[in-house]
Amino acid sequence: MVRSSGAGSYDFEIGRSWLYRTALGEAHCGDSLSAMKSIPDGSLNAIITSPPFALLRKKAYGNQTEAEYVEWFLDFAREFKRLLRDDGSLVIEIGGAWLPGKPMRSIYQFDLLVRLVRDLGFGLAEDFYWHNPAKLPGPAQWVNIERTRVKDSVSNIWWLAKTSAPKADNRQVLKTYSASQRRLLESGKYNKGQRPSGHNIGDKFATDNGGAIPPNLIEVANTRAFDPYQDYCRRHGLTVHPARFPREIPDFFIRFLTEPGDLILDPFAGSNLTGAVAETLGRRWLSLDVSQEYLQGSVGRFLEAPGLETRPGLIPDSVLGGDRT
Ligand SMILES: C[S@@+](CC[C@H](N)C(=O)[O-])C[C@H]1O[C@@H](n2cnc3c(N)ncnc32)[C@H](O)[C@@H]1O
Repeated sequence: MVRSSGAGSYDFEIGRSWLYRTALGEAHCGDSLSAMKSIPDGSLNAIITSPPFALLRKKAYGNQTEAEYVEWFLDFAREFKRLLRDDGSLVIEIGGAWLPGKPMRSIYQFDLLVRLVRDLGFGLAEDFYWHNPAKLPGPAQWVNIERTRVKDSVSNIWWLAKTSAPKADNRQVLKTYSASQRRLLESGKYNKGQRPSGHNIGDKFATDNGGAIPPNLIEVANTRAFDPYQDYCRRHGLTVHPARFPREIPDFFIRFLTEPGDLILDPFAGSNLTGAVAETLGRRWLSLDVSQEYLQGSVGRFLEAPGLETRPGLIPDSVLGGDRT
């Protein structure tokens, strides 16, 4: 089916499982492995996601155990590879885990990376890290009581691609210059020549490029003093998703790796932050989650989105309440 609702039209249909849609995207409830079977090869510009982790303590939404995890994920990843365009990107935010009962770390996220590259033929375009300074210390036994481990506050983000030239433009994600760099740009005074590191500082070092090139470390505390999504869930008695990533993660990769009008999939959408950021940035989006409850809350992120339609019966009017203007 070709939807005719404007920029959000897809030239494929993945079934009647959508809970809500806008002019730019659709949120579907169901197992993403089956839903992806209806999407034609090479349809997507990017897949940006945070899958369930292989956590020691199972979360409410059912994580795989460490041993099962990699095999489980590879089935999805084969579909991801089929669905991505040749210049498309796969971005996976994946947290670490402790082994059960001992102060040793699992290497499952590294194992997964190796298998994605060696067995499925993805290339690692770049490894990124998310530092969450607000992360609480744990497991208590090793970190707070015995004091033999420290707080784990960094998670991995694997940026994978099908070819060595995925679409990417770091000018879209420049950081504000530091005060010292700004002073240098204003004065034009700096030491030219070779640094001990081998870098050659030339004449263009003092050129204002509109911002600094960002590093592969995203530093953001996963706390929000006021979050309209949480507020919406609470007002309507809906579950707030327990494992959301911060807005800065999808925002960075959507700007960096896609252009307006591109199509982005989040196959483990949860509170559908990827879809919401894509919507704000004028990208088309497709979001899948097995939990209807999480998706019901996620509609709270789209109340102002042009063309919002909700599926009668699946999102009751009482859930939309008086929120829509
Ligand atoms: C870590 S959460 C994603 C959170 C999301 N990034 C956010 O910020 O809200 C992982 C999600 O994967 C969903 N999930 C697990 N298995 C799935 C499957 N087979 N198909 C679709 N969704 C699945 C869970 O319901 C959960 O919401």
